[in-house]
Amino acid sequence: MRTHYCGDLDSSHIDQEVTVTGWVNRRRDHGGVIFVDLRDREGILQVVFDPDDATMFANAERVRNEFVLQVSGKVRVRPEGTVNPDMRTGEIELLALSLNILNESETPPFQLDDDVHEDLRLKYRYIDLRKPEMLERMRLRAKVTHFMRSFLEGDGFLDIETPMLTRATPEGARDYLVPSRTHAGQFFALPQSPQLFKQLLMMSGMDRYYQIVRCFRDEDLRADRQPEFTQLDIETSFMNEDDIMSTMERMMQGMFKDIMGVEIDSNFLRMSYAEAMERFGSDKPDLRIDLELVTISDLLADVEFKVFSGPAKAEDGRVAALRVPQGNQLSRKQIDDYTKFVGRYGAKGLAYIKCNDVAAGRDGLQSPILKFLPDDAIAGILERTGAESGDLIFFGADKEKIVNESLGALRVQVGHDMDLVQEGWSFLWVVDFPMFEHDEKEDRWTALHHPFTAPNTDDPAELEANAGTALSRAYDMVLNGVELGGGSIRIHRMEMQQKVLQLLGIDDQEAEDKFGFLLNALKYGCPPHGGIAFGLDRLIMLMTGASSIRDVMAFPKTQTAACLLTEAPSEVSERQMKELSIRLRKPVVEG
Ligand code: AMO
Ligand code: AMP
Repeated sequence: MRTHYCGDLDSSHIDQEVTVTGWVNRRRDHGGVIFVDLRDREGILQVVFDPDDATMFANAERVRNEFVLQVSGKVRVRPEGTVNPDMRTGEIELLALSLNILNESETPPFQLDDDVHEDLRLKYRYIDLRKPEMLERMRLRAKVTHFMRSFLEGDGFLDIETPMLTRATPEGARDYLVPSRTHAGQFFALPQSPQLFKQLLMMSGMDRYYQIVRCFRDEDLRADRQPEFTQLDIETSFMNEDDIMSTMERMMQGMFKDIMGVEIDSNFLRMSYAEAMERFGSDKPDLRIDLELVTISDLLADVEFKVFSGPAKAEDGRVAALRVPQGNQLSRKQIDDYTKFVGRYGAKGLAYIKCNDVAAGRDGLQSPILKFLPDDAIAGILERTGAESGDLIFFGADKEKIVNESLGALRVQVGHDMDLVQEGWSFLWVVDFPMFEHDEKEDRWTALHHPFTAPNTDDPAELEANAGTALSRAYDMVLNGVELGGGSIRIHRMEMQQKVLQLLGIDDQEAEDKFGFLLNALKYGCPPHGGIAFGLDRLIMLMTGASSIRDVMAFPKTQTAACLLTEAPSEVSERQMKELSIRLRKPVVEG
C-alpha cells in the first residue's frame, strides 16, 4: 500500500513520486492550502493539498486527527522559511496528487501531546502507544531482546520454553492461581520464575539455557514492579560464578555499545553485601550519588541522649550519620519533610546538626541535640563524617535494618533533590550475601535469595554450625540503584539441599510436597550449575530513562493489578464457575 514510510523520506527523494500511509497528526487550513502532518512508525511528513483538484481538496478538508490516510504525491523542497531542521523530513514536503481516506476516527479522548492521567492512557493504550516516545521505547525493547538472543546463541545457549501452568515456585511472592477443570478443586500456579525448570534442564544435560519469559507475582506494586513482568532467564552447567558474571558483563557491555553507543567498562565493580549496607544502607546502592553513611555507634554508647545510646549499645542497633555537603542551606520545612520521609521507613525521627563553622567546634554548630552530646562525641562525629563548614549531618539511630532502610532511602532522595546524581551508567555486582536472614516474628531462618542457592561451604555440618554468619554464592547485578538481576550458584548435592531446607524449617513432608520432583532429580546425576535472571522491563526503563516500568510495557497493569484496557480481571459466568467446581463466598475480609 505504500512505497515509503513517512519518516524515512528526506531530500534524497526530491522529485520522486511516492505513496505513504499513516495517521493524521495535525491538519492546518491555511486559507486555500491544507497541510496535513502524516504520522507513521518512522516519523512525521508534511503533506500539502492544493485546491487545484477540487474533489481531493474537499476530501482533505474532511480529515481530522487520527484519520488513516493513503497519499500519493511528489516530494518537493519546502519553501524557504518553513524548513524544520529538527525533523528528518524537515526539508521536504509531499505535494499530494491523490488522497485515499482509509479510515476515519472519532475525536480521540486525548491528543498525543496532551499530558493526561495515566489511567486514561492505559484505557486507550492503542492511542497512547502511537506517541513517538512510546514507539521508541518499544523499538528499543525489541532491539535489546534481539541483542540478547544473538549474544546468547553465539555463546551456545539454547532457548527453551518452560510451562506456564505449573506448581508454586520458591521466589516467595504470592502466587497467581489457575483452577483446573479436569482436576476439580486443584490449582495450577503461574510461575514466579522458571527457577526449578531451568535447574531441571541442567540436570537434563542442556548445558546452557536461556529464555525471555513472563513471570507472575502477586505482590505490592511499585514503579519498578508489575504483577507480570519479563525476565531474561539464564542457567548454565559447569560454570562458576566468575564465568557467569563475566559472560553477563560482556553481554551488557556489547548491548550498551551496540544499542546506546555507550562504552562501559566490562569489569564491573564487586561489592560485598556487608559493605553495601554499611556504606549505602542498601543492597542496590546507586553509586552515582557521592553520599555515604558512616557508623558512629561506638562514639555514642555512653552519651546521656537515650535516642542515640540505646541503639548504639544494642546488638541489633546502629547509629549512623549521613553528611550532606552544603546541606546547611536546607530549610526547616525541608528538614521536616525529610523527617516525614524517613518515617515511612520506620525511623522515629531525624536528628541533624548544621555545621556553620567546624573550626569553632560546638559553637560553630547548630542543632536541637547538641545539648545532649559531650564534646568528644561531637568531635568524633565531625572527624568521622569529614564534615566541613556549610554541611549538614543527618542521624539515624534504631535497629540496624531501620537505619539502613531509612538513611539509605534518604541518601538517594537528597542526592536527587540536591542534584548530586552524576551522569552515567553505574553497574556493580553485589556479592557475599548472607545465606539466611532471621525472621524475628516467627523466630526462624528465611532464605535471602531462594532455597536452592548454594552456601559458601560444601559441608552441611559447617553450614548448620554457622547458619547466622554463612554467606551464599549469590550475586546481584545493580545498575544506577536498581536491582537489574539476581542469580547464584545452586546446590547440586542432595545432602546440602536437605540441610538447607531443614534449616529453613521446611520439613521432609513439605519439601516433598512442594519440590519433591527437584529433590528426586538431584539423585540422578546433577551437574554443578548456576544462573541468573534479569528484569527486562527494569533494564529497558533504565535505558530509556522512563520513570516507571509501565512505560516500557505495551499493556501494563495498574498499581492495583488491573488492566484498564480489557477491564481484567472480571467476573465470569456461573457456567464457567460450575465447570471449575468453584462457588464464591462473600469476599473475605482479611483478619
Ligand atoms: P529474582 O526474584 O531476583 O530472581 O528476579 C530476577 C529479576 O527480576 C526482576 N523482577 C521484577 N521486575 C518487575 N516486576 C517484578 N514484580 C519483579 N520481580 C523481580 C528484577 C530481579 O532482579 N529465579 C531467580 C533468578 C535466579 O536465581 O536465577 C529470580 O527470579 O530485576
Ligand atoms: P526528641 O528528643 O525525641 O525530640 O528528639 C530529638 C531529635 O532527635 C529530633 O530532631 C528527632 O527528630 C531526633 N530523633 C528522634 N528519634 C530519632 C531516631 N531514632 N534516629 C534519629 N533521630 C531521632
